Amino acid sequence: MEKTRIAVLVSGRGSNLQALIDACRDPAYPAQIVLVLSNIPDAYGLTRAREAGIDTAIVDHRDHATRDAFDAAMHQVLLVHDVEFICLAGFMRILTPGFTQAWAGKMINIHPSLLPKFKGLRTHQAALDAGESEHGCTIHWVTAELDSGAVIAQAHVPILANDTADTLATRVLAEENKLYPATLEQLLTRKE
Ligand code: GRF
Repeated sequence: MEKTRIAVLVSGRGSNLQALIDACRDPAYPAQIVLVLSNIPDAYGLTRAREAGIDTAIVDHRDHATRDAFDAAMHQVLLVHDVEFICLAGFMRILTPGFTQAWAGKMINIHPSLLPKFKGLRTHQAALDAGESEHGCTIHWVTAELDSGAVIAQAHVPILANDTADTLATRVLAEENKLYPATLEQLLTRKE
């Protein structure tokens, strides 16, 4: 089976990356992770990648004077690895229109809210503050506007009476870790 060559971009702990790594171990899974790229040199996601024998790259945004230069450096690394599809998984940099256009229809992100509700950061506290009865996560296409590309899939969780941002985040993350590999599989299978 021809597997799609994907890169996962991370800035932190990489639990969604781990879920994708685990899914890709199945010979029938339609993707292989050929690169894990991070802007943070000591991101734990890089350790997870190395432990799985996956190539890693660090493109530190602090080494680049502009967002365009940073994105151009990432783009080069992605091309060198023959990347066909990008999964953002806790990647904490805003991407330029040039980069999002170059990867249009080939780049997805996971966001911890039921978009279009609660774009940006601190989504769990925002959902609690808004008095929501449910919350969740969204996989969406990445476009130039932050957290605004077309929704591909969502998972819902209830908000419980005693929830804090942390307990809610834990419940949502468990869903994220299932939704990401399942959605990527559906997308890539549909394409073939
Ligand atoms: C997740 O909540 C994801 O939705 C958000 O950043 C967090 C990354 O978590 N974009 P992890 O690094 O995958 O564990």
